[in-house]
Amino acid sequence: MSHPVIGAIEARRTTNLFDPSRQLDDAQIQELIRLATTAPTAFNLQNWRFIAVRTAEAKARLRAQAWDQTKVTDAAVTFIVCGQLADHRVMPERLAPSVEAGFMPAAMVPGWEGAAKSLYFEQPQRQRDEAIRSATFGAGTLIHAAQALGLGSAPMIGFDAEAVARAFDLAADEIPVVLVAVGHATSENWPQKPRRPLAQVLSLV
Ligand SMILES: Cc1cc2nc3c(=O)[nH]c(=O)nc-3n(C[C@H](O)[C@H](O)[C@H](O)COP(=O)(O)O)c2cc1C
Repeated sequence: MSHPVIGAIEARRTTNLFDPSRQLDDAQIQELIRLATTAPTAFNLQNWRFIAVRTAEAKARLRAQAWDQTKVTDAAVTFIVCGQLADHRVMPERLAPSVEAGFMPAAMVPGWEGAAKSLYFEQPQRQRDEAIRSATFGAGTLIHAAQALGLGSAPMIGFDAEAVARAFDLAADEIPVVLVAVGHATSENWPQKPRRPLAQVLSLV
């Protein structure tokens, strides 16, 4: 029998049809995001925010900006996974728990902050790239956490990013990177689609 993590990776598929009668409670939503935020980010920046769209009003508001996709209102919750422009100035705060836990020497923090500054300071493209990367890792971990908890998920890029940012009051440094619908899948969903042959996508050098 395969390892449960491999089982979840292999069984995951994009859920198109959700059971609209089944909700998730706040504790389940919190557990999904607790797991999602175990994903790695550069310098442990954690430059992300997850907006759990779960009320009828908020779902309708999001669906109107998301190509009218039925999943947004049928799924128990649709997360707006936001990336935040990378900013080296948050590093001391983000690293403090690692120092307090006793494994990261406090003297290392300025070095990490300096490295982050050299990468991102006055580099808007890199700041944005890191926002997209962090949110994408978070979304990837979220969909596998959902799978492991017996839930279906659907990543979605079919939405108007500027309209979503306005409708959900995103800050100026926040980008709505991807929507992830999560809920109970119905039995009619397609399986995971076949993938391109390994020989086309893997280069052994
Ligand atoms: C970044 C991204 C954006 C996507 N956007 C949408 C979307 O807006 N609507 C949708 O129905 N599916 C969307 N999908 C789902 C893909 O179509 C799906 O992952 C792909 O066909 C592979 O299917 P599988 O995950 O079931 O194997 C998106 C997937 C990704 C990764």
